[in-house]
Amino acid sequence: MNDLAGKHIVLGLTGGIACYKAAELCRALVKEGATVQVVMTEASEQFITPVTMQALSGRPVYTSQWDAREPNNMPHINLSRQSDAILIAPCSADFMAKLVHGRADELLSLMCLARPVDKVPLLIAPAMNREMWAHPATQRNMQQLADDGATILGVGSGFQACGETGDGRMLEPNELLEDLIAFFQPKALAGKKVVVTAGPTFEALDPIRGITNHSSGKMGFAIARAAREAGADVVLVAGPVHLPTPRGVRRIDVQSARDMLAATEGEAARADVFVATAAVADWRPATHSDQKIKKDGSGAAPTLAFVENPDILATVAKTARAKSGALFCVGFAAESHDLVKHATAKRERKGIPLLVGNIGPLTFGQDDNQMLLVDANGVQELPRASKLDCARRLVAEIAQRLQRR
Ligand code: CTP
Repeated sequence: MNDLAGKHIVLGLTGGIACYKAAELCRALVKEGATVQVVMTEASEQFITPVTMQALSGRPVYTSQWDAREPNNMPHINLSRQSDAILIAPCSADFMAKLVHGRADELLSLMCLARPVDKVPLLIAPAMNREMWAHPATQRNMQQLADDGATILGVGSGFQACGETGDGRMLEPNELLEDLIAFFQPKALAGKKVVVTAGPTFEALDPIRGITNHSSGKMGFAIARAAREAGADVVLVAGPVHLPTPRGVRRIDVQSARDMLAATEGEAARADVFVATAAVADWRPATHSDQKIKKDGSGAAPTLAFVENPDILATVAKTARAKSGALFCVGFAAESHDLVKHATAKRERKGIPLLVGNIGPLTFGQDDNQMLLVDANGVQELPRASKLDCARRLVAEIAQRLQRR
């Protein structure tokens, strides 16, 4: 993955114990292809050394505005002009207050003040004790920074180094990385609401057993992430899978197809786009036992009868058509053979504008995928790529079609 290739990030560290996480963040940014220039305040040097940050970023660290390494002796100008974004992580309460007032008595705040506001975005990852975070002064400062054009990445909640528990922890390096990657993605779905179904369903036989399938949910989760990156408000209706929820996505966990339908119908009523990637069980057991089904000692196996599950995609698409609603429905078809023929027929049968076909065995559980887009104009084969890249491409294709309507 090289989602930050070509990006030059100034990573600013201010005084706080979360500086230990900045080391891992720096490494993660570099691994993702970014060049990273670290700038540290004097207070941050109490928590981590410039040596560590230099080794991880592969560049000398700047700690003073009086740095004669710069030919013009103006690191605050030069560093900010070269960067695609300035990320302050951790950002202390004191540093937020300084930024609000435009103070510039050391290099990092001086550089933030000197940056061309319309060209170099400023992202802030606050980190502080929960009382400091909750204090009206900090909350006021945060609002002011946002009004001044900074992006506040929020805080985590939990156990704090001071021994207290609450809001104010710096976000984890992987969360900050995901947020920064998202920040640079085009906002093709800004203001839109997107609902995605993902993963398998689980159809219970009794409290212990049930019928499910091997869907990993990876494609649906990637689409939820890509839609969120594109600026959408995203709801992910997920069957039982063990995947982390993409940043900024609201997740509703469900088990059965009928649960999934109920959750999806509620959300889709107010959505602009519905993407059905879930591998919904076509049938569920006709009966459900409240108690574990026991062997009766005769050696006879129980006979299982099934009934068909609702088709979530077809149902949601039909409701949207009946209301002449604007919901744009996208389906997936995993086939084992004759992909074009089956995918084309399936799009018509489900009554949807766009269907993504793929060869199931080549994509199940994998990290990459090859998509075939089928719409009223025909069939378009896309190159094999990671599921996240496929998801971003699909989101761009959906956004284009929304615009053309
Ligand atoms: N789908 C759904 N609800 C179902 C079955 C399928 O929402 N009960 C959705 C899937 O999420 C996917 C699309 O319909 O987007 C196609 O799923 P697929 O299993 O390939 O199609 P089926 O309709 O089950 O057709 P078949 O099994 O005959 O290929």
